[in-house]
Amino acid sequence: MNGAISCHISLKFNRFPWHKFATGAESVIRYPEFIPDRKAPRKEAGYFMNSLVIRGGQRLTGEIEVSGSKNIALAILSSVVLAEEPVVLKNVPKISDTLIKTHLLEVFGAKIVWDGDNLHIDCSELKAGDADEEMVRSIRTSFYMIGPLLARIGKLDMPAPGGCKIGARPVDLHLKGLAALGANIELDGGVYRAFSDKLRGTEVYLDKPSAGATQHIMSTASLAQGTTTITNAAMEPEIVALGHFLNRIGANIEGLGTSVITIQGKQSLSGGTYKIPADRIQAGTFLLAGAITGGDVKVNDILPEDQTAVVNKLREAGAMIETGADFVRVAAPSRLNHVHVVTMPHPGFPTDIQQPMAATLCMADGLSYIEETIYESRIGHIMELNRMGAKITQNGRTANIEGVNELRGATVYASDLRAGAALCLAGLVAHGETVVKNIHYIDRGYESIEKTLQSLGADITRVMDSEPQKVL
Ligand code: UD1
Repeated sequence: MNGAISCHISLKFNRFPWHKFATGAESVIRYPEFIPDRKAPRKEAGYFMNSLVIRGGQRLTGEIEVSGSKNIALAILSSVVLAEEPVVLKNVPKISDTLIKTHLLEVFGAKIVWDGDNLHIDCSELKAGDADEEMVRSIRTSFYMIGPLLARIGKLDMPAPGGCKIGARPVDLHLKGLAALGANIELDGGVYRAFSDKLRGTEVYLDKPSAGATQHIMSTASLAQGTTTITNAAMEPEIVALGHFLNRIGANIEGLGTSVITIQGKQSLSGGTYKIPADRIQAGTFLLAGAITGGDVKVNDILPEDQTAVVNKLREAGAMIETGADFVRVAAPSRLNHVHVVTMPHPGFPTDIQQPMAATLCMADGLSYIEETIYESRIGHIMELNRMGAKITQNGRTANIEGVNELRGATVYASDLRAGAALCLAGLVAHGETVVKNIHYIDRGYESIEKTLQSLGADITRVMDSEPQKVL
């Protein structure tokens, strides 16, 4: 088995119940099938990690499917504690974030059984658990469990969250919303201490349409007494899916997919089965992988309407796009044209696709601009792409991308999840060999990215470093 999952979650993760994921039982997920080996040797000088080695130049063609959505799965795994009866989630992505999240649920008393891609969760008996700081900090959505847990158990402590370092990522909107619902939450030396006697419905206005705050307040309000209205709510497909799940287990939520969401609180929520929809960000990434290689790639079993912004930009750049009821196909010319992209809350261009789009535009004719309006420092890909021969200059939150004739293979480091995806895309067209390091970031959001790309004809392999490296 290859590499270590992450230095963030290495040492203290000895406490992680990895053995559960490596049993002999056929029906139980075997940990190493989807996450690099946590037993990789460690040396003083650093860690042995996986890398992706890509030999560029293949035109990608073919049809793929993507796994269930990471962000929907994480949102539901934050809210599932509201359910007093068993829940079965289908099509759960086998990525490091979901594994960490299920372990956190166990810390708070949930019973978890993986069965293939299905996750059986029983939250009938919860408790105020002692969450490991290192683990909580390894993902952002640990924080989103506070409200739903409060609604069930009234009191808990949760270390402050982490996640990809792409900006300040405050949680003020979450805290304001939860306080308005009747929660008392204080930050005490890096730990949020939360308690509540009673949660009551209220009116919440969000200064920004935050996806996380909308999810957090909406799910907490599902067990508050009375009606809650969230105005300037986020409209992302992840919010809609979470609302569908909550309604499936007995909540009463209206206005999903609009900027005003109304929640009639219930005394208790039951259980049920829900299938996680396909991951729209993975789908967008692989469409761009087709586009950057001048290839022909069809992504099946997705919601084409979730790709509207990406598809329109690709059309504008000269690609042929075909959409059906449940697929999108891109057939790209050998050179795309330059385009101007501005990231916006849904239905605008998704910030999560911004970095892979930047890689794609490196190989387009002319000068492209990408303006990042959601996160102040989602720029970790720029220096590494330039190392490969790209010509990107940064001007505040705008990246000016001058198309080049060729990229050159190099050793590059992923600084966050989508930056890692961007580097893989660049590697697909670069001359020579590209080695992408720090790929534990990529494993947070793509189920074996190399296998999907291989199935489209890419020359990409996962290897374990022969020398220990420091995680940059
Ligand atoms: C989620 C996604 C992430 C995606 C983002 C925007 C997950 C796990 N992550 O992140 O992949 O890039 O939506 O689509 O689902 N903000 C505040 N105060 C808050 C909360 C957010 O100022 O309390 C700001 C953020 O700093 C950011 C903007 O609002 O500038 C959007 O953040 P938000 O929509 O909350 O993103 P996340 O839920 O963290």
